[in-house]
Amino acid sequence: MSDFDEGRTLADRMRRHAGSADHLYAHLIRAMADDWETEGPVRDVLSGWEDASMGSVVQLRLLAGVFRLVLTGRAPELVPYYPCLGGKAPPELAWPDVRDVLVRHRAELREALEIAPQTNEVGRSAALLVGIFEAVRRTGLRRVRLLEPGASAGLNLLVDRFHFAGRGWSFGPSDAVVRFDDGVVGPVKPEPFQVVERRGCDLAPVDVTTAEGRLRLRSFVWPFHLDRHERLSRALEIAQREPPRVDSGSAGEWLEAQLEQPVAADVLTLVWQSITRQYWPSAESRRVAAALREASNAIPLAHVSMEYPRGSGTAQLTLDLFGAAGGGQGAGPQHLADVGDHGPPVIIASTDP
Ligand SMILES: C[S@@+](CC[C@H](N)C(=O)[O-])C[C@H]1O[C@@H](n2cnc3c(N)ncnc32)[C@H](O)[C@@H]1O
Repeated sequence: MSDFDEGRTLADRMRRHAGSADHLYAHLIRAMADDWETEGPVRDVLSGWEDASMGSVVQLRLLAGVFRLVLTGRAPELVPYYPCLGGKAPPELAWPDVRDVLVRHRAELREALEIAPQTNEVGRSAALLVGIFEAVRRTGLRRVRLLEPGASAGLNLLVDRFHFAGRGWSFGPSDAVVRFDDGVVGPVKPEPFQVVERRGCDLAPVDVTTAEGRLRLRSFVWPFHLDRHERLSRALEIAQREPPRVDSGSAGEWLEAQLEQPVAADVLTLVWQSITRQYWPSAESRRVAAALREASNAIPLAHVSMEYPRGSGTAQLTLDLFGAAGGGQGAGPQHLADVGDHGPPVIIASTDP
């Protein structure tokens, strides 16, 4: 790591992450950096992590551990600082109480450092929906098999259980508890479709049927992102009734195995991925691409992807249609929309190919 890119010490890297933002986590991260330098409890809890890179965001791992204590009632004095729990106390006053919690729960918080941040952003289903509409429209195939590598808890596999609406269109059950109004900007061409199978994989799948899995997902959503907490809670309600199947495995190997499964000729296999490619080693990306190419000769296949293009901070929604799925083979991915980090707004890029 270069000093210039990463900061000289862990405290520098933490301060660089927090910047001058005014929210709870920025205040806490700056306070943690000061405490680390003055050899307070943060220095002790983070011992062994002194050389942690910016990318490992050790401060967020620690804050997620603290958040889990708050969510499970073991740090009640912090509730007033957590807006998602109704807290309204000024965030700049939180540090002394957090510091006490670090001391009291040292062992558990050190274990928390081992858990890399992992979220499952339900808002990204708005992008998936746009991709499905377009793939269905172009192929005429309305029976969809959804496959998602890097699915986390698989909440976006429940896209047809959510309700979406925009100017002149709507989709999904009218009484759905997860709702997106005006999450898509620009012309939308809704198409009826039926999900006939849904399945995902993840290196570290989150099981939404367990309290631990649900707690883990909640703890990585920043406590002042109220909309995201609300959406996640509601999606978890649906998922507990109908848990998405998420296998443990790596993207390429899993996709190869799934795409070898027999599937009816009138079913469109749609592979969806969001904000996972950046974590894949290049061999993984190559293996996923090869699995798609290989299967494209045998089945109607679409690939809908929401990822950050190299060097860009704006995620792009793309659609690639393969082989029998509409003569798109060789055309490469088509840019459908620009997408916010957590989904809405999904800004449609163009109307027709
Ligand atoms: C930022 S999360 C995104 C999760 C989900 N796609 C979403 O948009 O909410 C990235 C996910 O990719 C998973 N992941 C990373 N590398 C992977 C790999 N090689 N194979 C499968 N999953 C992987 C991580 O475990 C994590 O759950």
